[in-house]
Amino acid sequence: MSPLVSTLHLYDIANVRGVAEDLSHCNTPSQVLGFHGSEELANSLKGADVVVIPAGIPRKPGMTRDDLFSTNANIVKSLVEAVADNARDAFIHIISNPLNSTVPIAAEVLKQKGVYDPKKLFGITTLDVVRANTFVALKKNLRLIDVDVPVVGGHDGITILPLLSKTRPSVSFTDEEVEELTARIQNAGTMVVEAKAGAGSATLSMAYAGARFVESSLRALDGDGDVYECAYIQSELTELPFFASRVKLGRKGVEAVISADLQGVTEYEVKALEALKPELKASIDKGVVSPQNGG
Ligand code: LMR
Repeated sequence: MSPLVSTLHLYDIANVRGVAEDLSHCNTPSQVLGFHGSEELANSLKGADVVVIPAGIPRKPGMTRDDLFSTNANIVKSLVEAVADNARDAFIHIISNPLNSTVPIAAEVLKQKGVYDPKKLFGITTLDVVRANTFVALKKNLRLIDVDVPVVGGHDGITILPLLSKTRPSVSFTDEEVEELTARIQNAGTMVVEAKAGAGSATLSMAYAGARFVESSLRALDGDGDVYECAYIQSELTELPFFASRVKLGRKGVEAVISADLQGVTEYEVKALEALKPELKASIDKGVVSPQNGG
């Protein structure tokens, strides 16, 4: 649908030709091509400006995102190796869970290949922002289009930290509202997994959120100087090597990290930030030293 997409390459190990044929009938300006099986992976990536990786298996009820590690870590590793070999300058959007670990895995792979540019590697946390905006607008009876809640940290459980005190437009919450909204945003993915009862996790809201981040990336690549999104990136904002925060996007990827969001936060948010750090650090370490990365 985006006029900024000139060519859309779809890669999968199954069923991709039908999806590509289907999508290619839309009378939009983009050319859609399908690539099937590992022997077509390299060609699917050549010339790409943005590569989106949502591959891997989803959760079933009762599973944590980390339970996906053993399967999805290998899938992300081999896809990122192919990106390093065939689209070294592309923005890489990682969606595959457990995101807190798969982004560090991707960074290690890119380092080993000698092509790591931390400004171009993004863990997509846009769905947390989308959910926070929706739930806050509903709770406070605000116009959805006006609401923007920065969400920092990571993408799992308590590592998802919505900074409700930084909601725009400025709005006040009772302590009970903060606790309820924070828990709802942190558990939203699990709610979908449970409601789908074994048929997977969020796909439609994730596609919506993923499309928003791709559109923002394409606008930035196109020279728009006013593009801001939250993303999980290599970061110096805290002592953790990877951390999600609001960033300014430019032609070369992350142009600036918006540190102001972490200043002047509430006592509740300060405590929640400290509480998430050991958990996020453990997930990052797991990605960095995973057997897939030779650790
Ligand atoms: C989500 O937040 O919906 C995704 O991370 C998928 C999941 O397993 O919850």
